[in-house]
Amino acid sequence: MPDLDFAAHNTLYATHGLHAYAAKCPPQLVNYGLHYYSKPGEIVLDPMTGSGTTLVEAKLMGRHAVGYDIDPLARLIAQVKSSKLQDGWVEQAYETIYKKATKDIAALKSRKVSSALRARATPPDFDNRNYWFDKQVSAALAILAHLNFTRFSGHEV
Ligand SMILES: C[S@@+](CC[C@H](N)C(=O)[O-])C[C@H]1O[C@@H](n2cnc3c(N)ncnc32)[C@H](O)[C@@H]1O
Repeated sequence: MPDLDFAAHNTLYATHGLHAYAAKCPPQLVNYGLHYYSKPGEIVLDPMTGSGTTLVEAKLMGRHAVGYDIDPLARLIAQVKSSKLQDGWVEQAYETIYKKATKDIAALKSRKVSSALRARATPPDFDNRNYWFDKQVSAALAILAHLNFTRFSGHEV
């Protein structure tokens, strides 16, 4: 039986360390399984993909990978961790969002705030929101979430 104790190994290489999702497998264990049970070019399915350890490792090993999860946060993390980005894409997204958010936040301080901006700057309601978040901070977070969502859902902002 091989030694499958990876406690002393680096488990954070590639994008594996992007999020500390609960109950992650060591990628080396996934690698071991994929090595024996799949070939390069095949499709690997993980129906409870969590934060995407199997998807990332499968892609690193030249397999295609498909994952599902009931938890929307897990799906988002897995998608981010297992998607290939083009050079400069993150910087470009940051620049676009930063510029628009800065403009919106400055406009919030003016006397005339459009109804569209007011809607963008309204955070979702939840218990104790105003206790945990300063009003200006929640408005800025709502704007960032809006810009981020519209960008990643394919709607240009
Ligand atoms: C232990 S985690 C998987 C971790 C993953 N193997 C990794 O290493 O990153 C188990 C996942 O199963 C998901 N899950 C539980 N029940 C499910 C269901 N009925 N359908 C889809 N996903 C489910 C949970 O949301 C959780 O993210």
